[in-house]
Amino acid sequence: MKKLSILLLTLSIQFSFSNDYDWGKTGHRATGEVAQQHLSRKAKKAIYKILDGESLALVSTYADDIKSDRSYKAFSPWHYVNFSADEKYTDITPSEHGDVIQGIRKCIEVIKDKNSTEVDRAFYLKFLVHLMGDLHQPLHVGHAEDKGGNDIQVQWFGKGSNLHRVWDSNMIDDYGMSYTEIAANLPVLNKKEIKQVQSGDILDWVEESQKLAAVVYGSVEKGEKLSYRYSYDYLSVVEDQLQKGGLRLAKVLNDLFK
Ligand code: ADE
Ligand code: ZN
Ligand code: ZN
Repeated sequence: MKKLSILLLTLSIQFSFSNDYDWGKTGHRATGEVAQQHLSRKAKKAIYKILDGESLALVSTYADDIKSDRSYKAFSPWHYVNFSADEKYTDITPSEHGDVIQGIRKCIEVIKDKNSTEVDRAFYLKFLVHLMGDLHQPLHVGHAEDKGGNDIQVQWFGKGSNLHRVWDSNMIDDYGMSYTEIAANLPVLNKKEIKQVQSGDILDWVEESQKLAAVVYGSVEKGEKLSYRYSYDYLSVVEDQLQKGGLRLAKVLNDLFK
């Protein structure tokens, strides 16, 4: 009996945490890898020191890895922002619990601050790498009423899933590529195109994700059976977002370590 209740408890804990994850590990790492490849020499050196040699790809999942630890509960709302499609972020009163934009700003502030400890600087740098990825998952700029698509149940190749998970991980996982393979096979951009992607600021990038989220919300019916056709239509959007997240993360970091 005791064994059974431990098993049930373990299962229920796993289910409760598997519901609202972010770009899966592969997506976050691909974004980290793209950023790593676009760092200035100065930024690369400074980051190497702060992260004790770990790559941006490797640290990109840290903010998810600590989610199940209750002592980091206050950081949970940092992974997304929800507001309605007809509003702009600047029109809303930001949540007092924080959101992905406030989170990114806080990370930048701590990393910049000469008085920050080494431990804090590493922690917030890892968080920044992760949050720049989350910001580019369209449904992380979603609607509160369906928790960014987590409550929109769909089937993925005959198995239960939800719209949020399809975009976080189902499409990427079924692609079957490692993060280095994904990063190496992204569209090749010239200098001008890279500059174009890196232009603007966090608020522009939020707006872009919000617009994409509207497309994503319109792409399925509740309960729809999704398979190859859906990836065929939307995997390129996922890849573009992973690439943009990486290029913009590099921009933010290059500005920080000038
Ligand atoms: N939980 C509530 N809203 C969410 C969102 N937009 N993304 C991820 N997790 C969420
Ligand atoms: Zn997510
Ligand atoms: Zn996240």
